[in-house]
Amino acid sequence: MYKRIITFVSLICISSVTTTTAFAAKQQAGVAMPDSYSADVAASILSQGGNAVDAAIAAQFVLAVTLPEAGNIGGGGFMLVHTDKQNDFIDYREVAPLKGHRDMYLDDKGEVIKNKSVFGVLSAGVPGTVAGMWLAHEKYGSMAWKSLLQPAVSLAEKGFVVHPKLADNISWYLDYLQKKDIKVNFADYFGEIKAGQVFKQPALAESLKRIRDHGPDGFYKGKTADIIVDFMQQHGGLISHQDLAQYQAVSRKPISQPWQGYQVLTAPPPSSGGIAILQWLKMYQQLVPANDKKPLEHNSKEYVHLLAEIGKRVFADRADYLGDPDFYPVPVEQLLDDDYLQKRAGDVNLLAISTTEKIEPGLYESEDTTHFSVVDQWGNAVANTTTINLTFGSGMVVPGAGFILNDEMDDFSAKPGVANVFGALGGKANEIQPKKRMLSSMTPTILLKDKQVALVTGSPGGTTIISSVYQSILNVTEFGMSAEEAVNSPRFHHQLYPENVIRHHKGLKDEDKKALQQMGYTLDNRYFGDVHLIINKNGKLDAGSEARGRGKAMVLR
Ligand code: GLY
Repeated sequence: MYKRIITFVSLICISSVTTTTAFAAKQQAGVAMPDSYSADVAASILSQGGNAVDAAIAAQFVLAVTLPEAGNIGGGGFMLVHTDKQNDFIDYREVAPLKGHRDMYLDDKGEVIKNKSVFGVLSAGVPGTVAGMWLAHEKYGSMAWKSLLQPAVSLAEKGFVVHPKLADNISWYLDYLQKKDIKVNFADYFGEIKAGQVFKQPALAESLKRIRDHGPDGFYKGKTADIIVDFMQQHGGLISHQDLAQYQAVSRKPISQPWQGYQVLTAPPPSSGGIAILQWLKMYQQLVPANDKKPLEHNSKEYVHLLAEIGKRVFADRADYLGDPDFYPVPVEQLLDDDYLQKRAGDVNLLAISTTEKIEPGLYESEDTTHFSVVDQWGNAVANTTTINLTFGSGMVVPGAGFILNDEMDDFSAKPGVANVFGALGGKANEIQPKKRMLSSMTPTILLKDKQVALVTGSPGGTTIISSVYQSILNVTEFGMSAEEAVNSPRFHHQLYPENVIRHHKGLKDEDKKALQQMGYTLDNRYFGDVHLIINKNGKLDAGSEARGRGKAMVLR
């Protein structure tokens, strides 16, 4: 992981623009990133001889500048790392402030106060990104920290050209805030942004410089910490100097399970995603042979129904058992036990929907988060998913520091039986406690075959992340798709509640949609996710970023 080779030969861009540069690598490297700025910087780090973690750190900070919907220093995330020596999971998830408490979003009658956990400073958890990147660098970095921060500093200081999709997202969000009469300061910073124009962020540049020059102390202590705490105090927020000084990113053991000849490395709690995708993949494999031993047709009525039925069971377990493992004993092994899953899958009826209790759906207003995948020339891989929760987080930009605060507190269960913004339920396992990490669906995942990286994947999308990730895996492993086909193939999502609703992309066949409706499903045609995938086929990399987003994927050789 610490090896560095200085020159690259050619840089082949799979998705959009093609670039060429000098390179003499051991083997192909690749990046699949949510925008061109992060892709170009990550590729440049790899071409300078940096490893996958170096490229990931530089990309993470660039995204804090160029992808304000989800890229961040004011949020958190998970970085899954595979090297020839070890697998590691850097958990830089936000935590509840010390003054946070179980009922902080309830009124006097014990009812959840609408939007309190979603907009404004009270919705923010203590940010983890800077500590997470620092920990990753301490453990695996081969290039100087400063050199990994500099591209982001330059993009904030000199500006970047605003992509039309970013301008559209901002304009949608401004309309949304106005229509719903939500009082946040987002418009003060982003209100004038125009597609095609250069957008400079001087305050963010100064915050990034403090991180560049002083590491985590440049964020959790000193000027940035003072600015955050002052802002909190002015607006009734909870994050204190003590919260910031005490924040720690942690290194956890990834979940690692065999499946269909692969070793699946994925996210452990406080993510629900790793358990969920493995439950889904294992139950799928248990149930498919029962269906006449024939593979199901991709995205057919039978395929969608089978995976929706499995999803009900997965999300029921998620609601009851999953939370921060440092606070709640999550029964990971039992939930992934083959016999348990066999029993769980046993009552799936391939022809009919099983019943669920009626519960009010969540708001489903907007969702974001972002993901990227990297493979370096030594075969090391990073799958990194990072978030400020909803698109543009809490809607609050820290004045003088120039970054958006997360609204991750909504990923806790504000009250048992009441769905969060993603329609997800929770109970004791995911109730709010000081310093506790809120349950996540982020699922950065790596599949190994014969100890080599075979696939690196992940996606944004709240609870739909889980469906995007397991379907990207099935698309490649079961249906032999290329990276571009796998990321762009229509997906669908079912999560127990809302009852019998299947959310799906455009592109399912009319006859299958009709048949699913006849079975009793309600179809909800709304896009979700933005998968960035790298596949290794016999030593040849194939990288894909979803066409609908503004991502860029490249193979370097
Ligand atoms: N905030 C989305 C997630 O962590 O699942």
